[in-house]
Amino acid sequence: MNEIQSIRDVGIKATHVAADIIRHYFTHGVTMRSKESYNLVSDADVESEQAIVKTIRQSFPHHEILGEEGHHADISAEHLWVIDPLDGTNNFAHHIPHFAISVAYYYQGIPQIGIVYNPIRDDLYQAIKGQGATHNGKPISVGKQTRLDEVLIGVGFYYDRGSMMVATLEAIETLFGQNIHGIRRMGTASLDLCQVASGMFGAYFEYLLSPWDYAAGRLVVEEAGGRITTCDGRDVGLQKCSILASNTTLHEPMRTLCQTPFLKI
Ligand code: IPD
Ligand code: CA
Ligand code: CA
Repeated sequence: MNEIQSIRDVGIKATHVAADIIRHYFTHGVTMRSKESYNLVSDADVESEQAIVKTIRQSFPHHEILGEEGHHADISAEHLWVIDPLDGTNNFAHHIPHFAISVAYYYQGIPQIGIVYNPIRDDLYQAIKGQGATHNGKPISVGKQTRLDEVLIGVGFYYDRGSMMVATLEAIETLFGQNIHGIRRMGTASLDLCQVASGMFGAYFEYLLSPWDYAAGRLVVEEAGGRITTCDGRDVGLQKCSILASNTTLHEPMRTLCQTPFLKI
C-alpha cells in the first residue's frame, strides 16, 4: 500500500469513529447551544472533533490539524488536516438526517485527500488527488449539462441575516430568470459540493464559507471533473471565502450571475 492510501485509511478510520459519536447523539438527543444566535453547536460537534484529532494524532503526531471546534493550525504546514466534525449542525439539531463529517488532508498546501461522510445514510464520498472521486466505492462524475435551464442549483447562506443574505436572495432571483430547474438549500456545504460532483446539482454557490466547510468537498468536485473557484473566479486557498462549484461547463455563466459587491470583502 502506498503512503497516500495509508493516510486516506487513517482519515476514513477517524471519520467512522466520529460517526459513532454523532449517531449516538442523533438517536439519544443532545443539548444544543448557540455560538451566535442561530449558529448552533453541541457536545456532538465537540466530541466528534476530539475523536478525529485523537485518531489522526495516533498515526501522525506531527501533522497539523485545523478544526472548526477549537483546533488551530499553521495552514502553511507541510502536512495539514482540515476537519469539520459535524457539517450541517442546524439539520442535526432539527433531526433532519442530512449532515456530514468532512475530513481533508493537504500536502504542501495542495489538497490530496477529501472525505465527506453522511453517518445516517452511510454515504461515503472520497477523492484522492489524481485518482478520481467515488461515492460508496463507485466512481462519480459531474453532470454533462451545458445550459442553466437543464439543472438544479445548490445554494447556502452564511449565518448573516443582513446584506449578505439579501445578496444571496437576489442571486437566486436572477438564476430563476434563467429558467433553472430549481434551487436547493440543503444545509450542508460539504454534501452540496458532493452533489455537484455526482451530477445532482449543475452548480452550487455560497458567499462565505470557512475552510473546513469546503476543504474535502472541493477535491471531490475537482476529481469528479468539476471546477471550484471563489464566486468572482479566483483560486480557492484555505481562507474564509465565497465558493462557486460547477460541472465546469456552467462555471462562467454562473460566475457572471453570482457577481455581488460582497465578493470584495
Ligand atoms: C454550515 C453548513 C451550511 C452552510 C454554512 C456552514 P456548520 O456549517 O455547511 O450548509 O450554509 O455556511 O457554516 O455550521 O453546520 O458546520
Ligand atoms: Ca460547516
Ligand atoms: Ca461544523
